[in-house]
Amino acid sequence: MPVERRLETQGIPKQSRPYPLPVGLAAVPPGPRERIPGSTVISFYRDPLGSLTRMAAEHGDVTRFRWGPRYEYLLNHPDLVEQVLVTKQRSFMKGQALQETKRILGEGLLTSEGDLHLRQRRLMQPLFHRRTIAAYGEEMVACAERLQTRWRKGETRDLHAEMSGLTLAVIGQTLFASDVEGEAGELGAALTDAMNSLQRFMLPFYGALERLPLPTVRRLRSSRRRLDETISRLVAERRAQPGERDLLSLLLASRDEHGRPMTDEQVRDEAMTIFLAGHETTAVALTWTWMLLAGDPAIERRLHGELDEVVGDRLPTADDLERLPYMERVLRESLRLYPPAWLIGRRVLMDVELGGYPIPADSIVIVSPWVTHRDARFFAEPLRFDPDRWTADAEADRPTFTYFPFGGGIRRCIGESFALMEAKLLLATIARRWRFRLDSDQHVDVLPRITLRPRHGMYMRLLSRS
Ligand code: HEM
Repeated sequence: MPVERRLETQGIPKQSRPYPLPVGLAAVPPGPRERIPGSTVISFYRDPLGSLTRMAAEHGDVTRFRWGPRYEYLLNHPDLVEQVLVTKQRSFMKGQALQETKRILGEGLLTSEGDLHLRQRRLMQPLFHRRTIAAYGEEMVACAERLQTRWRKGETRDLHAEMSGLTLAVIGQTLFASDVEGEAGELGAALTDAMNSLQRFMLPFYGALERLPLPTVRRLRSSRRRLDETISRLVAERRAQPGERDLLSLLLASRDEHGRPMTDEQVRDEAMTIFLAGHETTAVALTWTWMLLAGDPAIERRLHGELDEVVGDRLPTADDLERLPYMERVLRESLRLYPPAWLIGRRVLMDVELGGYPIPADSIVIVSPWVTHRDARFFAEPLRFDPDRWTADAEADRPTFTYFPFGGGIRRCIGESFALMEAKLLLATIARRWRFRLDSDQHVDVLPRITLRPRHGMYMRLLSRS
């Protein structure tokens, strides 16, 4: 169907679209030519964010590039992002990178497909409803309070490490109940270990690597064993003695429409998935937010002013959050500039048309919040930290999928409300008392792994606000 027609069927006359889609003029989209075979893979591994940004700038909204034995496609237009994540989602499944994480996560929500995914998503959706998760607010604030008792004025700390410990404590408390904080720490270390090893397997010829007796392979197996043992034990304990509202007890108590519970194995996979998906993403989001605030004292002052007015000297609660609109904008803007999930990949299940180009089955398509969020067509002066981009008026002009830090469609992040509530409560609890400034030796650089981490940590000086 021609582009104009497609836009009309979505109820949007083409001429009113501020950013018209490209129309495919050739059978294959443009893309980088490889003078040396494998050069695209090498340049991607050296500098993933730079490679993707350059490709989109040089070749347009649909770029085709070689990835080992096959082609991949980078899409950088809100309508195309929407097609992949929402309107044509049935033509896709998760990409190779996510398939690889099955070695750790099993068939949890993040990695499962088709009917199993749909069944699990329906079962778990109520657990992540805004009203259900509001009950975790107090625990989140308490975790942030505990952390600050260890901080001293004037000292320098790695805020990335601090935020990782904090979100790990929060997910440990909310998922497994309060008495396992120490264990959550150990689990977190094993999981990080496992995911780091896995990262190396996300190369085009990963299958062959796994059969070799490499140290990475051995480390991956041993981390997986450690994780399995701990989570299986926690599941057995909770089954014997259910808690009142921890997510693990809720997972165990949930029933599908036929009244069937999950098997222990399914509960294990879901618990592991929430544990992984639920802490590192929020930790990096907070770390980048502290860095951005430190770089713009006027924005920081405005945030503090709002907090002083709404929260004052007491501890923040989940009910306060809707009265903190500026903090909401600060967070949204931080997720624009530093989207923790910087790449979303899909494998094409059946031949599909995107942007006027035929995309054959079995290819991989990529959409990247990092690239699209920093595109000057959608965000003026895209590198500027400007929370006021998120006033209702400013937002009204922008197509929805110019901004997708939580993905979209049936695979949209189930933990979005949890993450936003957590991030805001932790920000509020900490910003009541502290300001941070980058250490003079700190060099800030991004390290795009499974999430977007700061490459050299984020060493900041702790300054008291009082
Ligand atoms: C700032 C924090 C977070 C960000 C930026 C984020 C981002 C994302 C994105 C982009 C996806 C979709 C991936 C895809 O389509 O391939 C996703 C999926 C998911 N996220 Fe999050 N996430 C965050 C926090 C959380 C939290 C706190 C939890 C759990 C407590 C969580 C649990 C999940 C799960 C289970 C999925 C898979 C959903 C499905 O496929 O049905 N996330 N997340």
